[in-house]
Amino acid sequence: MRIENTFGIDVEARELITYDSEEALRKAIKRINEQREGLPLLHIGSGSNLLFLSDYPGIVLKSNIKGHVIKAETKDDVLVEVGSGEVCDEFIEQAIQHGWYGMENLSLIPGQVGAAAVQNIGAYGVEAQDVIEEVKGISMKDGSERIWKQKDCGYGYRQSVFKSDLWGQYAITRVTFRLSKHFEPKLQYGGLVNAIEQAGLSKDTLTAEQLRQVIIDIRRAKLPDPKEQGNAGSFFKNPVVPKEQAERLLSEFPTMPHYPAGEGKIKLAAGWLIEQAGWKGKSLGPAAVHDRQALVLVNKGGATGRDIQRLCEAVKKDVKERFDINLEPEVNFI
Ligand code: EPU
Repeated sequence: MRIENTFGIDVEARELITYDSEEALRKAIKRINEQREGLPLLHIGSGSNLLFLSDYPGIVLKSNIKGHVIKAETKDDVLVEVGSGEVCDEFIEQAIQHGWYGMENLSLIPGQVGAAAVQNIGAYGVEAQDVIEEVKGISMKDGSERIWKQKDCGYGYRQSVFKSDLWGQYAITRVTFRLSKHFEPKLQYGGLVNAIEQAGLSKDTLTAEQLRQVIIDIRRAKLPDPKEQGNAGSFFKNPVVPKEQAERLLSEFPTMPHYPAGEGKIKLAAGWLIEQAGWKGKSLGPAAVHDRQALVLVNKGGATGRDIQRLCEAVKKDVKERFDINLEPEVNFI
């Protein structure tokens, strides 16, 4: 069975199981554990952050748990539990319609709610961890349920305990968000205020719908639509380096974008490094570096996972040679 993935790579799994409730998931886990005879097991979302290097020799599980319920509510905020199989962007749109705010800046990021909690998705100054209250999951070993409070999710930049220590052990079933009933736009991200003004809007009277639209327009202008050209968003993480290293580089490249990233650390823009290394818009076979955002690798048509991997390695090598920086993929290789 074909495995959905936004890179548009043609890959098959031995078996694909979609579940729409905890009960169905438990049944599937029981059957898999009785019958699987050592076949590997992989849980995916919409495949928007995966690179398949070959067909998958085992069983793929996918959540189709939908809907949301209010768990608690005050005059200021709401705790809303969302099924992990909801499309994240569709939930954000509904939340804004209900008057629940905090996720506007994450608009149009591809993927499901469960994957958003695993990946700690982020954009324009907001990360999933800022709005997550707790995460529910079911053990793929024995079907038992576990709940993680936000502080126990091990969140960092594009990082979580689900991606690291617990990788492959749990299926995320529900995510509870704490959203505000008062719209307080987060506009610190460089260029956002400018984009608002350019759209003929004022930051003082801005509505959540308007902010969502501005974010959508920025993304559409820079990032390729996976329906038109296979990709997984940012392919690399932005590297975080010691302050001294950043300062050395800045003396040679004074225009290099850089951002504070905690005590003694500086985050650099991988897109800028890749562009300076001469890769923006360049191809290697059927794989290419996107021509409007060098952080994104695209499938020009018919690429295999190995083609994308080859391009990844070539880009990494040149960035290493030019800047002595090791780029790390954000995408998970399977
Ligand atoms: N830049 C270049 N050339 C490029 C791309 C970027 O010079 O080809 C420069 C830009 O001019 C800017 C800086 O690099 O000065 C940062 O670029 P941008 O604002 O486009 O954001 P990014 O750091 O490249 C990150 C996230 C994106 C997220 C944006 C906005 C990562 C790995 N990527 O990209 O996330 O949308 O910020 O917050 O952190 C994703 O994870 O899939 C993703 C798209």
